[in-house]
Amino acid sequence: DLDLSTRNTLALRARSRFGLEITEAEMLPALFEYAAGQGLPVRVLGGGSNVVLSEVFEGITALLALSGRRTREESDTQVLVEAAAGETWHDLVTWTVDQGLGGLENLALIPGTAGAAPVQNIGAYGAELADYFHSLDAYDRQTGETAVFDRAECGFAYRDSRFKQQPNRYVVLAIRLALTRHWRPNLGFAGLSELSGSADLSPRLVMDRVIALRTSKLPDWRVNPNAGSFFQNPIVPIEAAEPILAEFPAAPSYPQPDGLTKLSAGWLIEKSGLKGFRMGPVGMSERHALVVVNHGGATQSDVAALASHVKSAVKDRFGVLLHEEPIFL
Ligand code: EPU
Repeated sequence: DLDLSTRNTLALRARSRFGLEITEAEMLPALFEYAAGQGLPVRVLGGGSNVVLSEVFEGITALLALSGRRTREESDTQVLVEAAAGETWHDLVTWTVDQGLGGLENLALIPGTAGAAPVQNIGAYGAELADYFHSLDAYDRQTGETAVFDRAECGFAYRDSRFKQQPNRYVVLAIRLALTRHWRPNLGFAGLSELSGSADLSPRLVMDRVIALRTSKLPDWRVNPNAGSFFQNPIVPIEAAEPILAEFPAAPSYPQPDGLTKLSAGWLIEKSGLKGFRMGPVGMSERHALVVVNHGGATQSDVAALASHVKSAVKDRFGVLLHEEPIFL
């Protein structure tokens, strides 16, 4: 019996009948074979920062702890960074920036592991993992083989990938990122544009600004347990956005290809009167309306009840259906 309440950033009360730390990729085939023989389900957990865990899991929780990272010079300008799935994402970002390598600085301080990063194609401050992604190795539970997936094969989209679409099929073992020594800062995002023209502009300067921005906006999961943005920013047909923009001309909206518009879920939730809203032990953060926080002792069902309340309130007020971002396990 394994207590997982300290293994998920929402700090939900959660237990697993069995648990196993995976320190070598070679342990996986034996684990799945054993579990199949015993009729036990297996689920894989990384940093626990994008999951809503059930209170009880009658199976085996595999805690992915594969470690190791290295860089390989591909050419005078190209550097390939490889990280095992269990490496902490932010430590990987810092490690590349320490070497003077740019690219990942906008993605600093995102909680979770390197192996989880491609599953939801993590993104922030105008960058997403897919922009720097080279390939990954994943164990396929269906075939029992380990395969390499290049960027196109990963099916990346906004907070989405092939691995998120088929939740129980793949176990990411290692990721590779392609960074260049010809760094071009990505300062298009509000809060970063002020840096352009700085005499000492460097990946580190940008990383420090991203860290400052995130720290000022988002609650720290160590203090107020949370899983980051709880809903995706909805991408809707222009006809669905028009009435909202007619009523609130300043509402945040970002045009997308194919006549679609991305709206801000945090804004919709705040304007539905739910910023800081509490329901039992959970609530929407008073600092950022898009973040669900556990005020203490919450379970998956508390989170599900709050999420469905928020979804129907936003649907009633604005006609927009929100989709949860973390994965319910
Ligand atoms: N807003 C409100 N009220 C709030 C919060 C936000 O009106 O309580 C408005 C803001 O005024 C702003 C807009 O919503 O105009 C966008 O807010 P913010 O810049 O905080 O970004 P976001 O769209 O809420 C996304 C990502 C974050 C990422 C930030 C920065 C998603 C689901 N979330 O949030 O990613 O850090 O942009 O790039 O795309 C995560 O995925 O867990 C995450 C934190």
